[in-house]
Amino acid sequence: MGCILLRTPLTYGRVQDSFGHSISYLRVSITDRCNERCNYCMPNELQEWMPRDEVLTYEELTRIMRVAVTLGINRFRITGGEPLTRREVPSFFQMLQNVEGITSLGVSTNGTLLAKEISPGVSMAALLAQTGVNSLNLSLDTLRRERYAAVTGRDFLDSVLRGIDSAQAAGFEQIKLNCVLMRDQSEDDVLPLIAFAGERGLLLRFIELMPVSTTDVLSEERFFPIAEAKRRIEAKWGALIPEPDFKTNGPANYYRIAETGQRIGFIGAMTDFHFCESCNKLRLTCDGKLRPCLGSHLEFDLKEPLRAGATDEELREFFLHVIARKPKEHDFRTTYQPNRKMVAIGG
Ligand code: 5AD
Ligand code: SF4
Repeated sequence: MGCILLRTPLTYGRVQDSFGHSISYLRVSITDRCNERCNYCMPNELQEWMPRDEVLTYEELTRIMRVAVTLGINRFRITGGEPLTRREVPSFFQMLQNVEGITSLGVSTNGTLLAKEISPGVSMAALLAQTGVNSLNLSLDTLRRERYAAVTGRDFLDSVLRGIDSAQAAGFEQIKLNCVLMRDQSEDDVLPLIAFAGERGLLLRFIELMPVSTTDVLSEERFFPIAEAKRRIEAKWGALIPEPDFKTNGPANYYRIAETGQRIGFIGAMTDFHFCESCNKLRLTCDGKLRPCLGSHLEFDLKEPLRAGATDEELREFFLHVIARKPKEHDFRTTYQPNRKMVAIGG
């Protein structure tokens, strides 16, 4: 069993945007590359990756996170692409151990590399646990091998299942499973995924498909609303009881299945009109753009001042400037025109 490090909070003030959201959470994409090709995230094989020197180094990422902490942004999630594909990624997590004031450090992963042995007897999952990662979000849309390969473009379901074993063996307490809902694709997976999550003690969340990339599966016909998933669950197991007081870092709403007591989350980016009300996050793309909202074109190039020798104080000012421009809510439903692949933004 690996041990989960306890991190000590530093006392800094909270920064608020112009709508009173307290900004305390930064998602950090460390690569646009991925070893899978999910059809809602990347359109095809002809993906052009960003040139390596456009991507922030581990030292640059660590510095930005250190500066963010001084603004009260003390919860982080490392994302990609697939973050665990980046070269020498264990050394990045080791560097982050020296950043004081991080109260929560999560990783979002497709799970394919968690079981990988990175040194004799040590899995990637164990390394994450040992370096203080305390929250793991894993994408899993189906438990059917063929369906998995069709959705992700890769026959990696077995590696993911082994990855879940490794993460549980490494001592992660609350592993979240994320399933993107798609008509004709995941409809039949809803109930089996719930059963699997229940048996394994994993916290399952269903996510509505968002128009965040240029792929043609993001159509009206493919949209499968949370409300419909809930109806299917209730038809099998009876009422879902809302749990408004249970919250994780993000915008998920949680319910309990009355009959079994199992907790399930729903991320209704498209149909939940309160979705943005409790938004507390910013995103950093792997090429150093700070984005105040996933569902908006706005992005601000932090890499330019960073590489031009900005001081920590200037980087703080930059953050404040971006936070001040955080929109009230996302505009997926109205004006959003996809111009950037999800894989480059980091989920
Ligand atoms: N809509 C909703 N969720 C998406 N993800 C990737 N693309 C989309 C999309 N178009 C999810 C993945 C993963 C997380 C990083 O983002 O399933 O759980
Ligand atoms: Fe890779 Fe995740 Fe995108 Fe799938 S959703 S292609 S696993 S980054």
